[in-house]
Amino acid sequence: MAILFEEKKKIFTLETKKTAYQMMVDQYGVLLHLYYGKKINGTAEHVLTYNDRGFSGNINDTGKDRTYSLDVLAQEYPTLGTGDYRNVALVVENSDGSVWCDLRYVSHTIKEGKYSLKGLPAVYASEREAQTLEILMEDAVSKVQVKLLYGVLPEEDIITRSAVVTNGGSGKIILQKAGSACVDLIYGQYDLISFYGRHAEERMTERTRIGHTTQKIGSRRGASSHHYNPAVVVAEQNATERAGNCMGMVFVYSGNFSFEAQKDSAGLTRAVIGLNEELFAYDLESGECFTVPETILSFSTEGLGELSRHFHRCIRRNVCRGKYKEALRPVLLNSWEASYFDFNADTIHNLAKEAAGLGIDMVVMDDGWFGQRNDDNTSLGDWEVNEEKLGCTLGELIEKVTEEGVLFGIWIEPEMVSEQSELYKKHPDWALQIPGRKPVRSRNQLLLDFSRKEVRDYIFDKICVALDMGKVSYVKWDMNRSMAEVFSHATLPGRVTYDYVLGLYEFLEKLITRYPDMLIEGCSGGGGRFDAGMLYYTPQIWCSDNTDAINRLKIQYGTSFFYPVSAMGSHVSAVPNHQTGRTVSMHTRGVVAMSGTFGYELDPAKLSEEEKEAVKEQIKTFKRLGELIRTGDYYRLSSPFTEPYTAWEFISEDKKHMLVNVVITEDYGNPEVLCIKPLGMLPEAVYTEKVTGKEYTGDVLMEAGIPIYPPMEEYPAYCLEFTCK
Ligand code: GLA
Repeated sequence: MAILFEEKKKIFTLETKKTAYQMMVDQYGVLLHLYYGKKINGTAEHVLTYNDRGFSGNINDTGKDRTYSLDVLAQEYPTLGTGDYRNVALVVENSDGSVWCDLRYVSHTIKEGKYSLKGLPAVYASEREAQTLEILMEDAVSKVQVKLLYGVLPEEDIITRSAVVTNGGSGKIILQKAGSACVDLIYGQYDLISFYGRHAEERMTERTRIGHTTQKIGSRRGASSHHYNPAVVVAEQNATERAGNCMGMVFVYSGNFSFEAQKDSAGLTRAVIGLNEELFAYDLESGECFTVPETILSFSTEGLGELSRHFHRCIRRNVCRGKYKEALRPVLLNSWEASYFDFNADTIHNLAKEAAGLGIDMVVMDDGWFGQRNDDNTSLGDWEVNEEKLGCTLGELIEKVTEEGVLFGIWIEPEMVSEQSELYKKHPDWALQIPGRKPVRSRNQLLLDFSRKEVRDYIFDKICVALDMGKVSYVKWDMNRSMAEVFSHATLPGRVTYDYVLGLYEFLEKLITRYPDMLIEGCSGGGGRFDAGMLYYTPQIWCSDNTDAINRLKIQYGTSFFYPVSAMGSHVSAVPNHQTGRTVSMHTRGVVAMSGTFGYELDPAKLSEEEKEAVKEQIKTFKRLGELIRTGDYYRLSSPFTEPYTAWEFISEDKKHMLVNVVITEDYGNPEVLCIKPLGMLPEAVYTEKVTGKEYTGDVLMEAGIPIYPPMEEYPAYCLEFTCK
């Protein structure tokens, strides 16, 4: 049993293999949080202390007792209006205008299997793999009901949370803030690890102390954004990569979000994640309900590396779906950096010929094949094939490509419209913009109002016409601007940001249902919407528009805190690199790109014969090691932010096959010897290194390490492969 309820004490314990999560319904029906951490044998209600704290309100039920205050107690789903002045999870404006919600326990149910969420992505699992706890809470006056949902996946050390708010009263209410999960860590000193960035430099890591100020990150850009990822780690201050307690929170949502961390006046650390309250005011008529997107929680007592591996497993197995979920992805050649907008059918056909000769599986025709699109100022929304530019029909082009023995993929950006387009001329009101105001321009395109079904359906039909012109095996779904005008002609302003994302999810669900064999790669100016919500529909996401191998070390390092390598779109591109001007060897570029879905972003015709041979070898290596890379346990062995080298490892589940990759990023005269210590090996087993044939026991490598003397070369890379019988 993963979910236990102790009737007498009214304590719930959610148990996973190594962790426990506890909460208690107290004498007033308030749901208090007790514990989240290493698995324990008993219950921890004694951690709650009751003291008179001046200026902290006492709920009315306590009579003259001033020692009970929701301003200092640890809670599961704190609301505004109960005397809790900290950051809360839920803010409700009632029909009388009062902002108040006081939730008390009504009932609960425990079910086999994992709950799902209507219209939203969520972790899924079989009946045997998971259990669900539903706790029904109600405000006795307004009749607002909140169903708190908990999913427990014991084997993966994963707990999920979500909430469904129902307006059980007679008048209209407005949700001003809707959090997905609040975790109150009653004692201890914590750090926040967050992942900030910008276009072409996503998911940089930052570790800061959680103090008495509220630390808040989030997005108000309409998408989860390049700028902050909707996932955080709250770590004890002594937690490291390999040891210590830490908790991760991953929001399964692709739109506006916020995360708040705050140490309260009495020393408790509160972490709240959910929908961003800005640009959000969701009205609910009597009887209507609202589903808050899910948060995936995990706790590790063995440091950040173990925490990441929990999330990797869960996202790979229980979030990603479809034919490609457990399959090696095709090695692809994308036309973007090879020719940008300057191509015709011959260009793509030539890429296919080259690809076939090199062993590349698929060619992707990127942006520029539709409408009058020869640059990024025009034609989004006009999804008619530009046959004049291509020189043939799309069907003919697909045939030419597939005849070379190569799969065909295509780029789309369904959520957008160019002001310079036929669609915009016909339906200017389909774009998100505010009447009487000139819209903010970004890449000269506007967002389509995906909160409206007729808009989505129109675009869906148009895109399907193109996709049905031949065998399309892959789609790159792009999204290249942020939302600025949160205003729709059909949807109330306070609903737009959420309804837009639900519209996007509905579209994606329809697309994967219609084309179950098609691989979809998410993208948003690179990695601007790299989140668990998108991964429910697209099992891989283009990590960044920055393809520079050395910059990618940091981007992929940050991404690896939550997201599996199988989800990270990563390609070898030409040198000098188009984003940084840097030249890095083909070998090093290959090593970095192989720690992802792998592919190429260049024109092979421009490669020397020697480089072509290297590409052929890389593809053979990737085909041989792809399964280990995709499914193996991933270990970060060093940080590119603090070390002059970056090392990481993949080891198979049975621990018999290991790949250690190292890239040296700084050069020194007369350098120090680097010592790489792999992790997770069988200590007594004898491992053989592939190239030298030398044998070592696992503990020798893990404890004494592998010395590397940096050669006189810029950015050298090493791939050390070990096997044991
Ligand atoms: C975005 C993507 C790129 C490319 C261009 C095309 O920037 O991230 O990979 O597809 O759009 O316009």
